Amino acid sequence: MNFKIPFVPEQASTMARDVDQLTFFLVGMAVFFTVLIAVMVLYFALRYRRRAADQVGSSFDHSTLLEVTWTVIPLLIVLFTFGWGAKVYFRLYRPPADAVQYYVTGKQWMWKAQHPTGQREINELHVPVGQPTRLLMTSEDVIHSFFVPAFRTKADVVPGRYTSLWFTPTKPGRYHLFCTEYCGAEHSRMIGWVTVQEPEEHQRWLASVPVQTAPAVAGGELYARLACGNCHREEPGLAGPPLHGLFGREVELADGRTVRADEQYLRESILRPGAKVVAGYQPVMPSYQSQVTEENVLALIDYIKSLEGVAR
Ligand code: CUA
Repeated sequence: MNFKIPFVPEQASTMARDVDQLTFFLVGMAVFFTVLIAVMVLYFALRYRRRAADQVGSSFDHSTLLEVTWTVIPLLIVLFTFGWGAKVYFRLYRPPADAVQYYVTGKQWMWKAQHPTGQREINELHVPVGQPTRLLMTSEDVIHSFFVPAFRTKADVVPGRYTSLWFTPTKPGRYHLFCTEYCGAEHSRMIGWVTVQEPEEHQRWLASVPVQTAPAVAGGELYARLACGNCHREEPGLAGPPLHGLFGREVELADGRTVRADEQYLRESILRPGAKVVAGYQPVMPSYQSQVTEENVLALIDYIKSLEGVAR
């Protein structure tokens, strides 16, 4: 279904068609049954109307066959819809392993984006066509929501936690980006553009933007400045667990639980270190809440990720 349908935004990501097909199916089902029932109500009302004043309706109790039929058919339709919806949802929810990650911070009333190579943009995001793209997002103030209709993907952007979405753009162009969560007086103006470019064009664009420090490098500098390495080093007897190769691993906690060392966990451990203490360590780390911004935290996490694969 690649033709242009009125009121439906352009399909510009690999997910767009899947989402549209499911939507059309749901709308089609709703319209079909609405029309079917309305027509039957009208038809029966006319066909079996009372024609003479002394007419009495026949008494009809129930029909098991009929009841089984109108239970089983909707059940099958609903189960089918559930299976289909779950399949699309899981695809939307899980970014491909080779997705390139960008950071997005929502703030009253703008979108700030940072490329893995360090370029920064406001209310704009330039990405190459065909590249699986993941956005890791957080907010500096209130709840916002990141929505690019042409990609059929949307996620809330929430202060105090990370959310993410992904898309693979399929055609070059400029696509509208909206904030879809009411976030204050200028909510309606918290809009922007995602620009999808041919790879060579994108390379030229990247080169034309003054490069700032890549997040992982900025994180490394901050890591040194905050002296994180004093406790988090590959040496026995230090106050903090080593961070090399930590990202993505399962971590055993002092209270017996196990957590995955993802972005959410690292962020929490920087801001509220007491929340999840690693087994074998004391809760001695101070909170860095007042010393780092959301962008700093993202940089630190990027740096910790870059410590992946180092020999333990
Ligand atoms: Cu941000 Cu609405």
